[in-house]
Amino acid sequence: MCGIVGYVGGQCALDVVLAGLRRLEYRGYDSAGVAVLADGGLAAARKAGKLANLEKELADRPIPSGPTGIGHTRWATHGGPTDANAHPHLDNAGRVAVVHNGIIENFAELREELAGRGHRLTSETDTEVVAHLLAESFSSCGDLAEAMRQVCRRLEGAFTLVAVHADDPDVVVGARRNSPLVVGVGDGENFLASDVAAFIAHTREAIELGQDQVVELRREGVVVTGFDGAPADDVRRYHVDWDASAAEKGGYDYFMLKEIAEQPKAVADTLLGRIDAGGALLLDEVRIPAAELREVDKVVIVACGTAYHAGLIAKYAIEHWTRIPCETELASEFRYRDPILDHRTLVIAISQSGETMDTLMALRHAREQGARVLAICNTNGSTIPRESDAVLYTHAGPEVAVASTKAFLTQLVACYLVALYLGQVRGTKWGDEVRSVVHDLARIAREVEEVLETMEPVRELARSLADQNTVLFLGRHVGYPVALEGALKLKELAYMHAEGFAAGELKHGPIALIEKDVPVVVVVPSPRGRSVLHDKIVSNIQEIRARGARTIVIAERGDEAVRPYADHLVEIPVTPVLLQPLVATVPLQVFACELATARGNEVDQPRNLAKSVTVE
Ligand code: G6P
Repeated sequence: MCGIVGYVGGQCALDVVLAGLRRLEYRGYDSAGVAVLADGGLAAARKAGKLANLEKELADRPIPSGPTGIGHTRWATHGGPTDANAHPHLDNAGRVAVVHNGIIENFAELREELAGRGHRLTSETDTEVVAHLLAESFSSCGDLAEAMRQVCRRLEGAFTLVAVHADDPDVVVGARRNSPLVVGVGDGENFLASDVAAFIAHTREAIELGQDQVVELRREGVVVTGFDGAPADDVRRYHVDWDASAAEKGGYDYFMLKEIAEQPKAVADTLLGRIDAGGALLLDEVRIPAAELREVDKVVIVACGTAYHAGLIAKYAIEHWTRIPCETELASEFRYRDPILDHRTLVIAISQSGETMDTLMALRHAREQGARVLAICNTNGSTIPRESDAVLYTHAGPEVAVASTKAFLTQLVACYLVALYLGQVRGTKWGDEVRSVVHDLARIAREVEEVLETMEPVRELARSLADQNTVLFLGRHVGYPVALEGALKLKELAYMHAEGFAAGELKHGPIALIEKDVPVVVVVPSPRGRSVLHDKIVSNIQEIRARGARTIVIAERGDEAVRPYADHLVEIPVTPVLLQPLVATVPLQVFACELATARGNEVDQPRNLAKSVTVE
């Protein structure tokens, strides 16, 4: 949520900052702005709407550029998406510029205090107070990093701040509390950004910033201190294991199309090297001894959005393979209901970005209560894995489209692996059983590829439904979360009324929504396994068809029983029952993407959304 870039070095700062913002636009696109230090002064430009508007503004009214600059792409919290509320925010003298991600909770009292001292604040944002406070502190201490530390000690809430001052033109200062900020270490140049994608074209060397730290960035180096001024002793440098091409569209019209197509590889990469010869799972980082995992008497999964749907599916696998009770909960609800947690509870936090504030707060609450936390995450060095007791990284590579696709499939793979591991550690699964499921998982990449090769009829169907108002989704067992995910994708991308239901609940209310020609997507469980479930969903399909619904049926290849009741049949490969979501979700992603395109929507940047939600 909000993308931030800072640069100091030998290149034209304006160009570097704009290129960085282009890569961070997935974080918010309500407005964009830049500030650069040039000719002894500070030049800034900002514009409501997408980055393209700012670029046009800069083409019409160019600003000078020097070697130091900052930039911002906004997802609005305080104050609407207007030019006046766009970042950077400046002090009254126009000497300090600051960009911000997060929410400063005590901004109202700070604003009043500043107004009392004669400052004129011109926006509705919480951010502007920081520019004024920094200007005051700088005028007394003459050091931007020290001024930032003084200001941060006064702020409450979550914030990443990056600032420049015209009187100290060779330095960019950043600060971080509860919100992401990484340093890119270059040769004679250094970078700051919300995400490594912003500087990956220049360097793959990065430094994670810890909680409550201030960083001073100069051409020749980087100094990290705590808000109290003490040098940081936990600075961790790391190498980013993907390059700029991974964060580009690579010939596809949208990132989402590219990311859907990358799923077979993402699934295969997430499995790579995970299981040793004895069948044990190799986590990336574990600080939970096996003895403690044997003691676990409850698993709680916390996540948001698509990651939450992965968690709902994980519950079926964890309970079936380990016999440990498992709950999956929306991270935003979790800590407010006073959940029962202790040292025998294992909390699994699932997050693509590793920065989702609701998930982060849920895991902090869990740890405070003594629970152990295992993170399933796609972003190396992000906050959620840093604050967890163990980490399993999904190797999906950078996901740029706001609607999650490849991250979801890899989260599922990671969940299955964790379930198997728990089963093995606790003796509910033998090594050969673990190996057999891993073998099934290894085949899935090819099966996802097969699904992708047969998607043209789904795209055609999606185009034919572009004028519909409502699409319903039904599923049972692991197909139920798949139905929820299908509906979420359609809401996010096509802005249509879409709802997912457990098919068994149909007769308890949702069936009232069925009228002539309403499209209903039904995810059919395998006729093998618990066949009783299959029979029941076939009855559900008949019930909705009898009431005029147009049925779009996703069923296993060879499932002849559903064929007569399907207005449109989408066949998916035969998989073990619990693994079906890995193939059943893919047509729903393609369906939503195509429908959104047919409706003329922005596939990669749906309205009102941001990919990384770093505020509660
Ligand atoms: C946002 C995104 C979703 C994502 C959710 C959780 O809502 O738009 O695509 O599923 O956040 O994000 P996370 O990074 O924690 O997986």
